Amino acid sequence: MEPIRYGIIGTGSTVGIARNHIFGLNQCSDIKLSAIYDIDEKQALRTYKECGLTDTVICKSWEELLEHSDAIGICLPNSLHVEYAVRALQAGKHVLIEKPVSTNAESLGELLEEEKKHPGQVAMVCFNYREFPIYQQIKKMLDAGDMGQIYRFHLQLGGNRIANKQVGLEWRMDRRTSGAGAVSDFGCHLLDIIHYLLEPCCGPIIELKALLSTSIPERRDLADGSMRKVTNDDSGVFIGKMKNGAVFSCDTSRIGMWRHSIEIAGEGGMLYGDFDQDDVLWIWKKEKEGPYQTREQIPVSGLQGHAGILQNFADCVQGKAVNYRTVAYAGRVQAMIDSMERTGSWSWEDEK
Ligand SMILES: NC(=O)c1ccc[n+]([C@@H]2O[C@H](COP(=O)([O-])OP(=O)(O)OC[C@H]3O[C@@H](n4cnc5c(N)ncnc54)[C@H](O)[C@@H]3O)[C@@H](O)[C@H]2O)c1
Repeated sequence: MEPIRYGIIGTGSTVGIARNHIFGLNQCSDIKLSAIYDIDEKQALRTYKECGLTDTVICKSWEELLEHSDAIGICLPNSLHVEYAVRALQAGKHVLIEKPVSTNAESLGELLEEEKKHPGQVAMVCFNYREFPIYQQIKKMLDAGDMGQIYRFHLQLGGNRIANKQVGLEWRMDRRTSGAGAVSDFGCHLLDIIHYLLEPCCGPIIELKALLSTSIPERRDLADGSMRKVTNDDSGVFIGKMKNGAVFSCDTSRIGMWRHSIEIAGEGGMLYGDFDQDDVLWIWKKEKEGPYQTREQIPVSGLQGHAGILQNFADCVQGKAVNYRTVAYAGRVQAMIDSMERTGSWSWEDEK
């Protein structure tokens, strides 16, 4: 069977997540990069050269990208996701949409309609951490019931690139083009991990409460040099409760986060995964009815980065796997974030 031709729109000028798609594809089977397109032609050429691409078409238009692709990876600013995902589905393409799915859940209407109209096409949202080996190992252990009742957990994820105040105003610092800030950027991944790992053993999230902050409130506009307001958060923390009573905390920041980590405590002990040390998961065992005992390391291995989700995307396109990261699902995650950003909280009752 011919590999799925994967075309990317938005090759990247700030973080450039498209590179993660490009490098991820190199580790996948049955799917290959066929074409790239960016509204900024020089940017597309730069990515082509920097990623050492040779047999990839640099397209001059969206239409040309469609001609060279069976599936489209949408690596655009958040406010453009819905428009291009709708256009891709209408053109008969499968689509992998970078997260967050959009700037807010209300904007998803047409995309949700198109997703329903094209059940034979995959529309997946890029919650790419699920396949990371630490999370895969935790999933195995939780699903097997090894940890017994879960009492509490903590997750943190963020970055520090824009802690540098000299980084100018980017689309992600503007609520109109990004939606919420760090709490959405990183919080949507964390909520996805909670749904994936913990919902099966703890029941659904029933309540969330958040505090957000913008510590660097102005940035230089790169076009005219003036100082302009940042209109979303650069750090956000939220706490929550699961149906079984387990409580949790999540920490997100764009301006200083040392570690990406997860800690889970339950009847059977504690699990700790630190992505600075991504080939190992720590377990501190406990007798279910008794005290804590030994600490051990469990070696883990597997695909990192975007390779895992791209392989799952290819498997879904070929009918070998089921797509769980649908637009409808991402919309529910988005509604939680919207509510935390707008009112400081979200409750299960709101969803009903
Ligand atoms: N999954 C992850 O872990 C992860 C990490 C970082 C970013 N992201 C997401 O990836 C997306 C892109 O983020 P980024 O930081 O790579 O963006 P970026 O600013 O680096 O790149 C966006 C690119 O889109 C291009 N572009 C803008 N409008 C366009 C249009 N109409 N047609 C074609 N090209 C256009 C720009 O020229 C730019 O090159 C965002 O949704 C972001 O949240 C995901």
